[in-house]
Amino acid sequence: MKKNSVYIETFGCQMNVADSERAAGRLKHAGYEMSDSAERADVLIFNTCSVRAKAEQKVFNRIGEVRKSRGGSLPLLGVMGCVAQLEGGKIFEQSPLVGLVAGTRAYDRLPDLIERAAVGERRVLDLGERAATETWEVSAEDRGAGRVAFVPIIEGCNKFCTYCIVPYSRGREKSRRPSEVVEEVRRLKGEGFLEVQLIGQNVNSYRPSDEGGLEGFPGSTPFSRLLRAVAETGMARVKFTTSFPRDFREDIVRAIDEYDNLCNWVHLPVQSGSDRVLRAMRRGYKVADFMRHVEAIKASPRNIALTSDIIVGFPTETEEEFADTMRLAEECRFDGLYIFKYSERPGTPAARLPDDVPAGVKTERFLALERLQASVQASVYATYVGRLTEVLVNGASAKSEADLTGHTPCNKVVNFPGGRELTGSLVGVRILEAKANSLYGELV
Ligand code: 5AD
Ligand code: SF4
Repeated sequence: MKKNSVYIETFGCQMNVADSERAAGRLKHAGYEMSDSAERADVLIFNTCSVRAKAEQKVFNRIGEVRKSRGGSLPLLGVMGCVAQLEGGKIFEQSPLVGLVAGTRAYDRLPDLIERAAVGERRVLDLGERAATETWEVSAEDRGAGRVAFVPIIEGCNKFCTYCIVPYSRGREKSRRPSEVVEEVRRLKGEGFLEVQLIGQNVNSYRPSDEGGLEGFPGSTPFSRLLRAVAETGMARVKFTTSFPRDFREDIVRAIDEYDNLCNWVHLPVQSGSDRVLRAMRRGYKVADFMRHVEAIKASPRNIALTSDIIVGFPTETEEEFADTMRLAEECRFDGLYIFKYSERPGTPAARLPDDVPAGVKTERFLALERLQASVQASVYATYVGRLTEVLVNGASAKSEADLTGHTPCNKVVNFPGGRELTGSLVGVRILEAKANSLYGELV
């Protein structure tokens, strides 16, 4: 009997992208066919994000949309990922169209779960832990398009920042064995991948129970040793994200200095420029600590690009404290900055504080910081004009037929005129022009 076709749609972060790839791998292995059409597939699965209220709402909007576009006849509808983990069986009440709910550690069991739904079980629910035998591997054909592979090295989070839902949706930190990570990168290289991104909520909190595979690699933490071990595979580009300031050690910068293929990009979310707010967020560092990391990063001869996240309008944040954040952003001159308005997440410690910064003020702060970052970024990007950079070509640019789009080792988007046959290759591009969030250049 021909098995059903499955469509997976992914929201949120790269961990979710990686999970969707792993889920697709398990499904294909079990004989399912993957579909890229929400209109035609027999099974629809939404892999969800709950980091902010808006992200969480998305899945329910999408269910409504899909229902409309399919003329009301819906196939088996599943919700997986962070919303599934947090809401569990409540999703069945909220959206009676949903027949399957699978949490953040259940993707390995998706084939069985779908099977159970297919033979008539209603409201199939799995919020269980991963099986001890589960591997984190993804085969080449299950990865998304392109020559970039996401490789999870640590999952979950133990930090419990007061605003954040991730420790609840993703559970405690669990590090993957280094030998397995290195082996996967080696295999990816053999399969022609040109870039790996080591991913995790906090990659530099990496702490495997078994350090086999890191012997002989220097470093003050398992993470900096892993970076060196992965760089030694000779993979053309190695990136890693996200770094957590409290666990940041200077020898991460040393590793980048030593290995050309460790890319010159660090994403280090600061969240606020006020010590009092950082304490209320329970981030575990002060502004001065963060600035020391920034100094070390900027002192590198590799010209390391630095990006960050900031939350505006955290409960009780005053105008003065926000002004401290503005000052920090000005001083740090981030190459990129993701700005978020504080969004109350039920069950987190911050949800017990009054969400007392009015929506209008949050918007004002958001816009002020965005304006500041735009001018900082304009001057940072301007320094690239005239430079020669290496670009990994993703494909045709969405904006212009004649242009290709790709990205640099420092993770900036570069567009340039060129033929489609260059997709998936590394090319040299001279930068001619700086735009707001990208660079424009010509092939050399
Ligand atoms: N409200 C707003 N932004 C949040 N983030 C995490 N939780 C919240 C929240 N409750 C932001 C942080 C984090 C990024 C991934 O999302 O800045 O670094
Ligand atoms: Fe969203 Fe965070 Fe879950 Fe990623 S880990 S999907 S960002 S809530």
